[in-house]
Amino acid sequence: MPVMNIKLSAPPYAIDALEPFISVRSMSLHYWKIHQGHVDTVNRLADNPQLSGKSIEQLIREGKGGTRLLDNAAQVWNHDFFWKSMKCGGGGRPNEQLLKMIERSFGSLDCFKEAFVLGGVLQLGSGWVWLIQEGSQLEIISTSNTDTPLAHGQNPLLVCDLWEHAYYLDYQNRRRDFLQMFADHLINWNFAVSQLKGKASLP
Ligand code: FE2
Repeated sequence: MPVMNIKLSAPPYAIDALEPFISVRSMSLHYWKIHQGHVDTVNRLADNPQLSGKSIEQLIREGKGGTRLLDNAAQVWNHDFFWKSMKCGGGGRPNEQLLKMIERSFGSLDCFKEAFVLGGVLQLGSGWVWLIQEGSQLEIISTSNTDTPLAHGQNPLLVCDLWEHAYYLDYQNRRRDFLQMFADHLINWNFAVSQLKGKASLP
C-alpha cells in the first residue's frame, strides 16, 4: 500500500479541446505519458511513513521527501496549474480588475504579452514561465526544470510549460510561436483572476 496516493487530475476540458493550437497527439502524450509518469513516480518514491496523507502542495511547501520526490511532485503540481491556465476559446482580455493590475505593472495587455513571450524565450533549456502576484503588483518570472513558485512562497496566476515535450510535436523548435499562440488563444484569464490573493483580489 503506497504511503501517498496521488491521483492524476484531469484537465478541465476534453483532451482534444485545444485543437488546432495544441494537437490531440501532443496533448495525449503530455497528459497521459508525462504528467501520469510524474504522478506514478511520486507514489512510488513516497515510502516514508512521515509523508502519509500529505498532499502534493504540502510536500512542495514543506520541501520534504528528497530531491527526486520533490522534483516529481513539483512537475505534478506545475502540470495541473498549466492545464488550468488554458481553455478552449481563451486569450482575449482579463476582467477589469486584473486588466488594471496588468496595465499598472506592464503598461498594457500587449506589453504584458510581449514580456511573457520574451520571458519564455529567454529561459535557457527546460522550465516554465509564470505570471505571479506580489501584493498589488504582477511580475513575470521563469523557473528552471522542475522548479516552482510554490516552493518559494510566491503566488502564481498563470504558467506556460517550456519543456520541449510541450510544443515540439506541433511547433518543432519554434518556442516563440508556441508562446505567442498561448498568449493570444489559450490563456484562461478567469483562472488567473481566481488565483489573486489579498486586497488585490477585491473587485
Ligand atoms: Fe510538461
